[in-house]
Amino acid sequence: MKSLMLDIEDIRKSYRIGPTEVNVLKGINLSVATGELLAIIGPSGSGKSTLMHMLGLLEKPDSGTYRIEGSKVLYDDDRVLSTLRNRKIGFVFQQYHLLPKLTALENVGVPLTYRGLSMTEIRQKSIEFLTKVDIMQRADHRPSEMSGGQQQRVAIARALVGSPSIILADEPTGALDVKTGEEIMELFQRLNRDEGITIVIITHNPELASQCGRSVKIIDGMIYSA
Ligand SMILES: Nc1ncnc2c1ncn2[C@@H]1O[C@H](COP(=O)(O)OP(=O)(O)O)[C@@H](O)[C@H]1O
Ligand SMILES: [Mg+2]
Repeated sequence: MKSLMLDIEDIRKSYRIGPTEVNVLKGINLSVATGELLAIIGPSGSGKSTLMHMLGLLEKPDSGTYRIEGSKVLYDDDRVLSTLRNRKIGFVFQQYHLLPKLTALENVGVPLTYRGLSMTEIRQKSIEFLTKVDIMQRADHRPSEMSGGQQQRVAIARALVGSPSIILADEPTGALDVKTGEEIMELFQRLNRDEGITIVIITHNPELASQCGRSVKIIDGMIYSA
């Protein structure tokens, strides 16, 4: 049996807005195997980003358990949690979230600056990963000097540079035209197939989801097999 990278069990999350309580995640069970490429699809407002924030340790569930590589996540120590996040998880967002004043090369190196590496080592790693995602020719460009697809490649290199256990991508093609979106999807598929990287991608494009190894649906805070 394949080992589990992520495993969540009966995760619940609600938000209180004034007097009303909104139940966003209503008992989610989801396992992601090591080496898997999983798509999560679902309509707007169904809880996809909230689930991604849980998986990425950006939010704490109200109840339920979460295991990463077999170890139960303990939510009571923020420093342990942020180290875990920095080491194990690479994020890719719809809007890239690159730092505007830094070049592509410098952006990719950001996650490594917390790890006590030398400038030379950071530079070498950044070059390695810009090359891997085919955007090394833009190394010295700032985000405003790149197209959306190019910025997303840089963001993917940044997500990968720290050798995380898993990449979490929240609608990574949502701001891109169809063709560029397909190219980014092909990049994720290649990284999964050739490098064995475990990837979870949120999309509401069923066609992109069908190219993933497996897809699940989230509707109104509940998971269904797609
Ligand atoms: N921090 C928050 N406070 C209050 N409500 C929230 C918060 N985050 C998300 N929600 C609500 O949870 C629901 C699901 O949001 P989200 O997970 O962003 O959905 P999706 O990514 O599928 O569009 C929405 O109704 C949203 O308004
Ligand atoms: Mg969302």
